[in-house]
Amino acid sequence: MSRIGIIGAMELEVDKLKSEMDISGIANKAGMEFFQGTLQGAEVVIVRSGIGKVNAALCVQILADDFQVTHIINTGVAGSLNAKLDIGDILISKTALYHDVDATIFGYLPGEVPQLGTREFPADERLAQLAKSSCEKVNPGLHAVIGRVISGDQFISDGAVKKRLISEFHGDCAEMEGAAVAHGSYLNHIPFVIIRAISDKADNSAQVEYPVFEKAAAHHSARLVADMVRSI
Ligand code: ADE
Repeated sequence: MSRIGIIGAMELEVDKLKSEMDISGIANKAGMEFFQGTLQGAEVVIVRSGIGKVNAALCVQILADDFQVTHIINTGVAGSLNAKLDIGDILISKTALYHDVDATIFGYLPGEVPQLGTREFPADERLAQLAKSSCEKVNPGLHAVIGRVISGDQFISDGAVKKRLISEFHGDCAEMEGAAVAHGSYLNHIPFVIIRAISDKADNSAQVEYPVFEKAAAHHSARLVADMVRSI
C-alpha cells in the first residue's frame, strides 16, 4: 500500500491540496503540521515544510520516520532558467542538485556534497512520467519539461547570477528546497519527484513577477499533484 508524502514549502503551495483531502489526523513536529488522510482515494500526508533546504530535509526525515511514506512529491514554484519555460509552465524533475555547495578546492564538482558519492539525485522515472501525463491532462495549455532542478538558500533575482547558474549547473529551474528533498529521499531510499510551476524568470524582473504569479503558479503544480496521486 502506498502512502505519499506531499511537501510544499509555503502554505499557498499546499492549501488547495489540503482543502481537497479527507483529513483523518493532524500531527505536529519541528514546527510543521502533518495532515494525514486521503486525496483522490490515495493515502497521503501533506505538509508545509517552510522555506529552504534545512526545513525541507527535516520534513523528509519526519515523513520517513514517523509516517513511513513510500513516495515523496515536492510541489511548488520556481524561477525559470530555461528559455522554453515561461511563467506558469511546469518543470518536472529528472534530477536535482545543489547550486550553493562548493568543495571544489578538494576536487569535488560544483554542487557536489563531499563524500556522498553522487553530485545529483535522480528522481523516480515512473513518478516523473506520471506527472507529465497528469500535466497534459489537467494543464493542457501549459508547457511541461522533464529536467534539472537546482536548489540553494537564495532567491535568484539577478540576471548575472542566473547566467552563472545556467553555465555552471545547466539547471532548468531554480528554487530553494528540491535538492534537499531529493537528498533526504535518496538517503532514505524513497522514490521522489519535484514538480515546480514557473513563477518568475529568476532575473532582475523576478522581484516584480514573483508576487504577481506565485499563487497561480503554485496552483498549477498542485492541480497536477492532485491528479497524479490517483495513479501511484
Ligand atoms: N522560487 C520561485 N522563484 C524563485 C527564484 N527566482 N529563486 C529561488 N527560488 C524561487
